[in-house]
Amino acid sequence: MSAYPKTAALMARGAEFLGSEFAILCGAMSWVSERHLVSAISNAGGFGVIACGAMTPALLDAEITATRALTDRPFGVNLITMHPMLTDLIAVTARHRVSHVVLAGGIPPKGSIEAIRAFGAKVLVFAPTIALARKLFRSGADALVIEGSEAGGHIGPVSTGVLAQEFLPALAQDHIVFVAGGIGRGEAMASYLEMGAAGVQLGTRFAAATESIAHPDFKKAFFRANARDAVASVQVDPRLPVIPVRALKNKGTEEFTAKQIAVAQAIDAGQLDMAAAQLEIEHFWAGALRRAVIDGDVERGSVMAGQSVGLVTDELPVATIIANLLTECEAALDKRRLVA
Ligand SMILES: Cc1cc2nc3c(=O)[nH]c(=O)nc-3n(C[C@H](O)[C@H](O)[C@H](O)COP(=O)(O)O)c2cc1C
Repeated sequence: MSAYPKTAALMARGAEFLGSEFAILCGAMSWVSERHLVSAISNAGGFGVIACGAMTPALLDAEITATRALTDRPFGVNLITMHPMLTDLIAVTARHRVSHVVLAGGIPPKGSIEAIRAFGAKVLVFAPTIALARKLFRSGADALVIEGSEAGGHIGPVSTGVLAQEFLPALAQDHIVFVAGGIGRGEAMASYLEMGAAGVQLGTRFAAATESIAHPDFKKAFFRANARDAVASVQVDPRLPVIPVRALKNKGTEEFTAKQIAVAQAIDAGQLDMAAAQLEIEHFWAGALRRAVIDGDVERGSVMAGQSVGLVTDELPVATIIANLLTECEAALDKRRLVA
């Protein structure tokens, strides 16, 4: 019998779907979610996901092989839908018989869901609206992740609390839905599970785990930060689109604002055409997550973090983080019975 019987009961559908002990995913984080963190999560009973991000097919191939050497439990691969080599990356996951593929970063292009299902893998997708979620389920998606704006990394405009109220009553009975964004403790997990979620996905809480290869200065920035330090990037000028990213504010985020103002002024002065201006904005953060995660440049790099960073105060092994989450979740569910 599980040490967390109520939690296990509420997670049963999600855990069965993932093939893991608990329906706790560690969302893919570029540069962070590589073989060590992914295998540690899966070995601890959660579900790790390799972040493919900007990887070439050859790098992904090597990463899957290396992860398999560290765990015999299931894990997933996250592919970014606008990656120019998406078809080749899917072929790599097929060759390795990866059990779960997460399609992130936009609407899956035609044929991609079918190509993944064709080799027997399950497909997880993101959707910003219920209508699109239903469409993706009709196209063969096996599960949905709803991710609120509290999350670290690229974000949508709506909070997890509101998305959960919209999506879970509408979809969770008939479909597998995981909730992500802003989850730092088990009490929050308990609430979403009670609302019908099949499981949860966390990123920020795991990014600074012992097994994470993130630079010690990246982790220290997490331990120091409060929730309010994890801010969404701001768009200064309507002509210069900025994809919202939540990261710790630092010199880089200040300089990004100044850069946008300077570029907008250059357009007004006729010194830059629109395409060149937009490219300057787009390129500002190129390589910035790597600089923060790998090189430890937490001043000018992009220290992507969700608001739950305020709850991350020390470096803990993945197994301890998962045990803490489960203990908190179970205690919260136990308390419900006392009220009844
Ligand atoms: C440092 C960092 C990098 C991330 N990179 C990616 C990514 O490459 N692909 C992706 O789908 N999500 C990415 N995310 C989002 C996570 O997978 C996860 O959904 C999110 O962190 C969950 O919210 P939380 O941060 O509040 O726990 C990233 C998040 C962080 C903190």
